[in-house]
Amino acid sequence: MNSTVKALAVLLMVTIACVYFSDSLSNYILYASRSEDDRWFARHLDKSVQPFLTEKNSVSKDAFDWWKQLQQLEKQSFDYYQRVVDSLLKTFPAISKGAERFRMCAVVGNSANLKDSHYGRLIDSHDVVLRMNKSPIKGYEEDVGAKTTHRLMYPESATDLDNITHLVLSPFKIMDMVWLEKALTTGFRGETYEPVRSTIRANKNLVMVLNPGFIAYVHRTWLRRQHGYPSTGILAVILALHMCEKVHVFGYGADSNGNWSHYWEKLKNPKLGTGLHYGNEEYQLIQKLAQDKKIHFFENSLF
Ligand code: C5P
Repeated sequence: MNSTVKALAVLLMVTIACVYFSDSLSNYILYASRSEDDRWFARHLDKSVQPFLTEKNSVSKDAFDWWKQLQQLEKQSFDYYQRVVDSLLKTFPAISKGAERFRMCAVVGNSANLKDSHYGRLIDSHDVVLRMNKSPIKGYEEDVGAKTTHRLMYPESATDLDNITHLVLSPFKIMDMVWLEKALTTGFRGETYEPVRSTIRANKNLVMVLNPGFIAYVHRTWLRRQHGYPSTGILAVILALHMCEKVHVFGYGADSNGNWSHYWEKLKNPKLGTGLHYGNEEYQLIQKLAQDKKIHFFENSLF
């Protein structure tokens, strides 16, 4: 009896060891068989980082400290931040649902290179169409499409939405979260570094907020901690990599003078450049992702 139990115990241990080592071995073979490009991508894409703010996602102290100094207007503490988040989650319970997974996503930047591109129909054929800031659609459908499922914005770039578009706040300071709550309820009184809209139209059940920890991750991991901070455009691209099986990118690229000019207007400020963002680095990242076939980048050769 005793020896039978012993034999069974040994058998069990051998089985566990075999399962363990065959798993590690197959993981090792999988990793070793990946190309250098795949390994680079796997090192960067961290699926444990949650793109959206939810009840469960707390931001690390490091990430919070980095995020808090972005616009230097923010003097408030972590406790204050937590209170603002709690209040947001209470006002918009739907925020808590977090990220869903989608099949085919189009990310549409605001570059003037969309002019005469005729990408409209192609863009509209995607399950998800992410746009950002104030980019207009009416009158530009032929080149940019008519569908929007998600729009990233912050107070200074806000625009009204229809009832079926997700408002994705890209917060660059705590005040942006305060603004969101007020602008969709009682009205925001005050200004940030410039006057902002006191109210905004959007479906309160389709409000989402990027997790400051996600913005810190894009900065740290994808943009190698360059000066400045990620633009809404690059945040949208990395967000799509987290949400979608296939990512198609349209409307990215500065003009020949290095300005982030828009498809809907004549450039007003010839010294615009790429603002506080590392435009070249962001563009190179998009190109690398495209070369490695992690996204498809639709460049407009007419531009
Ligand atoms: O100008 P705006 O910030 O609204 O543009 C949204 C995003 O589109 C930018 O953050 C940038 O990533 C991208 N963009 C671009 N080339 C342009 C204009 C915008 O890549 N000429």
